[in-house]
Amino acid sequence: METDYRQVAQLIKEQGNVVAFTGAGISVESGIPAFRGGQGLWEKYDPMEYADIRAFLRSPEKVWTMLREMGDVILRAEPSPAHKALGVLEKAGLLNAVITQNVDGLHQMAGNTNVIEYHGNHRRLVCPGCSYTGPFTEESMQVLPYPVCARCQRALKPDVVFFGEQIPVSASARAGIEAAACKVMIIVGTSGAVYPAADIPFTASEKGATIVEINVSPTPFTSSITNYFVEGSASTILPRILNELGLDLA
Ligand code: APR
Repeated sequence: METDYRQVAQLIKEQGNVVAFTGAGISVESGIPAFRGGQGLWEKYDPMEYADIRAFLRSPEKVWTMLREMGDVILRAEPSPAHKALGVLEKAGLLNAVITQNVDGLHQMAGNTNVIEYHGNHRRLVCPGCSYTGPFTEESMQVLPYPVCARCQRALKPDVVFFGEQIPVSASARAGIEAAACKVMIIVGTSGAVYPAADIPFTASEKGATIVEINVSPTPFTSSITNYFVEGSASTILPRILNELGLDLA
Protein backbone atom coordinates (compact mmCIF):
# COMPACT_ATOMS: atom_id res chain seq x y z
CA MET A 1 0.00 0.00 0.00
CA GLU A 2 1.14 3.52 -0.69
CA THR A 3 2.20 5.75 2.19
CA ASP A 4 3.61 9.22 2.53
CA TYR A 5 6.93 10.53 3.73
CA ARG A 6 5.43 12.16 6.79
CA GLN A 7 4.34 8.82 8.26
CA VAL A 8 7.79 7.28 7.73
CA ALA A 9 9.54 10.35 9.14
CA GLN A 10 7.24 10.20 12.20
CA LEU A 11 8.10 6.51 12.70
CA ILE A 12 11.84 7.18 12.55
CA LYS A 13 11.55 10.07 15.03
CA GLU A 14 9.15 8.39 17.49
CA GLN A 15 10.15 4.72 17.51
CA GLY A 16 13.94 5.13 17.65
CA ASN A 17 16.28 2.14 17.13
CA VAL A 18 16.08 2.22 13.34
CA VAL A 19 18.15 -0.19 11.21
CA ALA A 20 18.51 -0.10 7.42
CA PHE A 21 18.78 -3.30 5.35
CA THR A 22 20.13 -2.49 1.88
CA GLY A 23 20.62 -4.20 -1.48
CA ALA A 24 21.94 -3.39 -4.94
CA GLY A 25 19.08 -0.98 -5.69
CA ILE A 26 20.61 1.68 -3.39
CA SER A 27 23.79 1.68 -5.51
CA VAL A 28 22.11 1.83 -8.93
CA GLU A 29 22.31 5.64 -8.92
CA SER A 30 26.02 5.27 -8.11
CA GLY A 31 26.42 3.53 -11.48
CA ILE A 32 26.70 0.00 -10.11
CA PRO A 33 24.29 -2.35 -11.93
CA ALA A 34 21.91 -4.45 -9.85
CA PHE A 35 22.01 -8.22 -10.25
CA ARG A 36 18.45 -9.10 -11.32
CA GLY A 37 15.93 -7.60 -13.71
CA GLY A 38 16.62 -5.41 -16.76
CA GLN A 39 20.34 -4.71 -17.08
CA GLY A 40 21.16 -6.98 -14.11
CA LEU A 41 24.69 -8.41 -13.90
CA TRP A 42 23.28 -11.94 -13.82
CA GLU A 43 21.67 -11.33 -17.24
CA LYS A 44 25.23 -11.08 -18.59
CA TYR A 45 27.08 -13.53 -16.32
CA ASP A 46 25.55 -16.81 -15.11
CA PRO A 47 26.08 -16.58 -11.31
CA MET A 48 26.72 -20.33 -11.10
CA GLU A 49 29.58 -19.94 -13.60
CA TYR A 50 30.96 -16.64 -12.28
CA ALA A 51 29.90 -16.14 -8.65
CA ASP A 52 30.14 -19.64 -7.19
CA ILE A 53 33.25 -20.53 -5.16
CA ARG A 54 33.62 -23.88 -6.94
CA ALA A 55 33.63 -22.13 -10.33
CA PHE A 56 36.27 -19.70 -9.00
CA LEU A 57 38.55 -22.50 -7.74
CA ARG A 58 38.05 -24.43 -10.99
CA SER A 59 38.77 -21.50 -13.35
CA PRO A 60 39.88 -18.27 -11.64
CA GLU A 61 40.91 -16.78 -15.00
CA LYS A 62 37.31 -16.92 -16.29
CA VAL A 63 35.78 -15.54 -13.08
CA TRP A 64 38.33 -12.70 -12.97
CA THR A 65 36.94 -11.37 -16.29
CA MET A 66 33.72 -10.53 -14.38
CA LEU A 67 35.58 -9.47 -11.21
CA ARG A 68 37.63 -6.91 -13.18
CA GLU A 69 34.42 -5.48 -14.70
CA MET A 70 32.75 -5.27 -11.25
CA GLY A 71 35.93 -3.91 -9.63
CA ASP A 72 36.28 -1.22 -12.27
CA VAL A 73 32.71 0.04 -11.64
CA ILE A 74 33.03 -0.18 -7.84
CA LEU A 75 36.39 1.62 -7.58
CA ARG A 76 34.98 4.53 -9.64
CA ALA A 77 31.62 4.72 -7.81
CA GLU A 78 30.59 7.54 -5.47
CA PRO A 79 27.85 7.37 -2.78
CA SER A 80 24.33 8.09 -4.14
CA PRO A 81 21.98 10.62 -2.49
CA ALA A 82 20.40 7.56 -0.83
CA HIS A 83 23.71 6.46 0.73
CA LYS A 84 24.32 10.06 1.86
CA ALA A 85 20.84 10.27 3.42
CA LEU A 86 21.57 7.19 5.56
CA GLY A 87 24.86 8.82 6.61
CA VAL A 88 22.99 11.96 7.72
CA LEU A 89 20.43 9.86 9.62
CA GLU A 90 23.22 8.15 11.59
CA LYS A 91 24.90 11.50 12.36
CA ALA A 92 21.55 12.83 13.61
CA GLY A 93 21.28 9.81 15.94
CA LEU A 94 18.30 8.45 14.00
CA LEU A 95 19.90 5.32 12.50
CA ASN A 96 21.64 2.63 14.59
CA ALA A 97 23.09 0.36 11.90
CA VAL A 98 23.19 -0.47 8.21
CA ILE A 99 23.09 -4.16 7.31
CA THR A 100 24.11 -4.30 3.67
CA GLN A 101 24.23 -7.08 1.08
CA ASN A 102 26.32 -4.80 -1.12
CA VAL A 103 30.10 -5.16 -1.41
CA ASP A 104 30.86 -1.67 -2.76
CA GLY A 105 31.82 0.05 0.53
CA LEU A 106 29.65 3.08 -0.37
CA HIS A 107 27.84 3.22 3.00
CA GLN A 108 31.14 3.82 4.78
CA MET A 109 32.11 6.42 2.15
CA ALA A 110 28.79 8.17 2.86
CA GLY A 111 29.71 8.42 6.56
CA ASN A 112 27.95 5.44 8.17
CA THR A 113 30.18 3.89 10.84
CA ASN A 114 28.08 0.91 12.00
CA VAL A 115 27.94 -1.02 8.70
CA ILE A 116 27.50 -4.79 8.72
CA GLU A 117 28.88 -6.19 5.46
CA TYR A 118 26.82 -9.36 5.14
CA HIS A 119 28.43 -10.36 1.83
CA GLY A 120 31.90 -8.90 2.45
CA ASN A 121 33.66 -6.07 0.62
CA HIS A 122 35.01 -5.98 -2.94
CA ARG A 123 37.67 -3.42 -1.98
CA ARG A 124 39.67 -6.10 -0.15
CA LEU A 125 41.49 -9.11 -1.65
CA VAL A 126 41.75 -12.41 0.22
CA CYS A 127 43.56 -15.69 -0.43
CA PRO A 128 41.18 -18.69 -0.19
CA GLY A 129 44.23 -20.82 0.62
CA CYS A 130 46.18 -19.06 3.36
CA SER A 131 43.75 -16.20 4.19
CA TYR A 132 46.29 -13.45 3.29
CA THR A 133 44.35 -10.16 2.89
CA GLY A 134 45.22 -6.94 1.06
CA PRO A 135 43.60 -4.02 -0.77
CA PHE A 136 41.79 -4.44 -4.13
CA THR A 137 43.23 -1.61 -6.24
CA GLU A 138 43.46 -0.48 -9.88
CA GLU A 139 46.82 -2.33 -9.94
CA SER A 140 45.08 -5.56 -8.82
CA MET A 141 43.04 -5.36 -12.01
CA GLN A 142 46.13 -4.92 -14.18
CA VAL A 143 47.67 -8.26 -13.06
CA LEU A 144 46.77 -10.84 -15.73
CA PRO A 145 45.28 -13.40 -15.76
CA TYR A 146 44.63 -12.62 -12.07
CA PRO A 147 46.46 -11.48 -8.89
CA VAL A 148 48.21 -14.27 -6.97
CA CYS A 149 49.02 -14.63 -3.29
CA ALA A 150 52.60 -13.54 -2.48
CA ARG A 151 52.69 -16.21 0.22
CA CYS A 152 51.27 -19.32 -1.43
CA GLN A 153 50.87 -18.38 -5.13
CA ARG A 154 47.14 -19.23 -5.22
CA ALA A 155 44.65 -17.01 -7.12
CA LEU A 156 43.43 -14.17 -4.91
CA LYS A 157 39.71 -13.23 -4.81
CA PRO A 158 37.81 -10.16 -3.62
CA ASP A 159 36.76 -10.60 0.02
CA VAL A 160 33.12 -11.15 -1.00
CA VAL A 161 30.85 -14.11 -0.24
CA PHE A 162 30.50 -16.28 -3.34
CA PHE A 163 27.59 -18.67 -3.69
CA GLY A 164 28.59 -21.80 -1.79
CA GLU A 165 30.56 -19.82 0.84
CA GLN A 166 29.57 -19.10 4.44
CA ILE A 167 28.42 -15.66 5.61
CA PRO A 168 31.22 -14.17 7.80
CA VAL A 169 30.40 -15.31 11.36
CA SER A 170 30.72 -11.85 12.92
CA ALA A 171 28.52 -10.23 10.26
CA SER A 172 25.90 -12.93 10.68
CA ALA A 173 25.88 -12.58 14.48
CA ARG A 174 25.83 -8.75 14.46
CA ALA A 175 23.03 -8.66 11.86
CA GLY A 176 20.94 -11.07 13.93
CA ILE A 177 21.35 -8.93 17.05
CA GLU A 178 20.49 -5.65 15.27
CA ALA A 179 17.49 -7.20 13.47
CA ALA A 180 16.07 -8.63 16.70
CA ALA A 181 16.52 -5.39 18.64
CA CYS A 182 15.36 -2.76 16.14
CA LYS A 183 11.96 -1.04 16.32
CA VAL A 184 11.96 -0.01 12.65
CA MET A 185 13.71 -1.70 9.72
CA ILE A 186 13.97 0.25 6.47
CA ILE A 187 14.49 -2.19 3.56
CA VAL A 188 16.08 -0.33 0.65
CA GLY A 189 16.58 -1.69 -2.89
CA THR A 190 16.64 -5.45 -2.47
CA SER A 191 14.72 -8.17 -4.30
CA GLY A 192 14.82 -10.46 -1.23
CA ALA A 193 15.92 -13.26 -3.57
CA VAL A 194 18.97 -14.49 -1.67
CA TYR A 195 19.14 -16.30 1.67
CA PRO A 196 20.21 -16.21 4.45
CA ALA A 197 20.33 -12.42 3.91
CA ALA A 198 16.60 -12.26 3.11
CA ASP A 199 15.84 -13.79 6.53
CA ILE A 200 16.97 -10.58 8.23
CA PRO A 201 13.80 -8.50 7.67
CA PHE A 202 11.66 -11.50 8.69
CA THR A 203 13.56 -11.70 11.99
CA ALA A 204 12.97 -7.98 12.60
CA SER A 205 9.26 -8.34 11.80
CA GLU A 206 8.85 -11.42 14.01
CA LYS A 207 10.40 -9.47 16.91
CA GLY A 208 7.86 -6.69 16.46
CA ALA A 209 9.68 -4.16 14.28
CA THR A 210 7.72 -1.98 11.86
CA ILE A 211 8.92 -2.65 8.31
CA VAL A 212 9.33 0.20 5.82
CA GLU A 213 10.26 -0.79 2.27
CA ILE A 214 11.67 1.51 -0.41
CA ASN A 215 11.77 -0.02 -3.90
CA VAL A 216 10.81 0.72 -7.48
CA SER A 217 8.73 -2.47 -7.55
CA PRO A 218 7.15 -4.89 -5.06
CA THR A 219 9.13 -7.83 -3.62
CA PRO A 220 8.24 -10.95 -1.55
CA PHE A 221 8.58 -8.70 1.53
CA THR A 222 5.88 -6.32 0.25
CA SER A 223 2.98 -8.80 0.40
CA SER A 224 4.13 -10.48 3.63
CA ILE A 225 5.87 -8.29 6.24
CA THR A 226 6.06 -4.74 4.83
CA ASN A 227 3.95 -2.25 6.80
CA TYR A 228 4.83 0.85 4.72
CA PHE A 229 5.77 0.47 1.03
CA VAL A 230 7.22 3.64 -0.51
CA GLU A 231 7.44 3.13 -4.27
CA GLY A 232 10.22 4.91 -6.12
CA SER A 233 13.95 5.37 -6.39
CA ALA A 234 15.92 5.31 -3.14
CA SER A 235 17.82 8.44 -4.16
CA THR A 236 14.54 10.35 -4.49
CA ILE A 237 12.74 8.94 -1.46
CA LEU A 238 15.40 8.90 1.27
CA PRO A 239 16.31 12.60 0.81
CA ARG A 240 12.56 13.41 0.92
CA ILE A 241 12.23 11.54 4.25
CA LEU A 242 15.28 13.44 5.49
CA ASN A 243 13.58 16.74 4.59
CA GLU A 244 10.47 15.71 6.54
CA LEU A 245 12.80 15.31 9.53
CA GLY A 246 14.18 18.81 9.02
CA LEU A 247 17.51 17.44 7.81
CA ASP A 248 19.21 17.74 4.43
CA LEU A 249 22.03 16.10 2.49
CA ALA A 250 24.41 19.06 2.59
N1 APR B 1 15.79 2.47 -5.86
C1 APR B 1 15.29 1.47 -5.08
N2 APR B 1 15.26 0.17 -5.46
C2 APR B 1 15.76 -0.12 -6.68
C3 APR B 1 16.30 0.86 -7.55
C4 APR B 1 16.30 2.20 -7.08
N3 APR B 1 16.79 3.20 -7.84
N4 APR B 1 16.72 0.24 -8.69
C5 APR B 1 16.46 -1.08 -8.53
N5 APR B 1 15.87 -1.30 -7.34
C6 APR B 1 15.47 -2.58 -6.73
C7 APR B 1 14.93 -3.62 -7.70
O1 APR B 1 13.53 -3.44 -7.88
C8 APR B 1 15.24 -4.91 -6.94
O2 APR B 1 14.19 -5.23 -6.04
O3 APR B 1 16.63 -3.15 -6.18
C9 APR B 1 16.50 -4.56 -6.14
C10 APR B 1 17.76 -5.18 -6.71
O4 APR B 1 17.63 -6.57 -6.59
P1 APR B 1 18.90 -7.50 -6.90
O5 APR B 1 19.54 -7.09 -8.18
O6 APR B 1 18.43 -8.92 -6.73
O7 APR B 1 19.96 -7.13 -5.76
P2 APR B 1 19.97 -7.65 -4.26
O8 APR B 1 18.60 -7.83 -3.72
O9 APR B 1 20.88 -6.76 -3.51
O10 APR B 1 20.67 -9.11 -4.41
C11 APR B 1 20.97 -9.79 -3.22
O11 APR B 1 22.12 -11.48 -4.54
O12 APR B 1 23.53 -12.07 -6.23
C12 APR B 1 23.44 -11.89 -4.88
O13 APR B 1 25.25 -11.35 -3.51
C13 APR B 1 24.38 -10.79 -4.43
O14 APR B 1 24.07 -9.25 -2.59
C14 APR B 1 23.46 -9.77 -3.77
C15 APR B 1 22.23 -10.60 -3.43
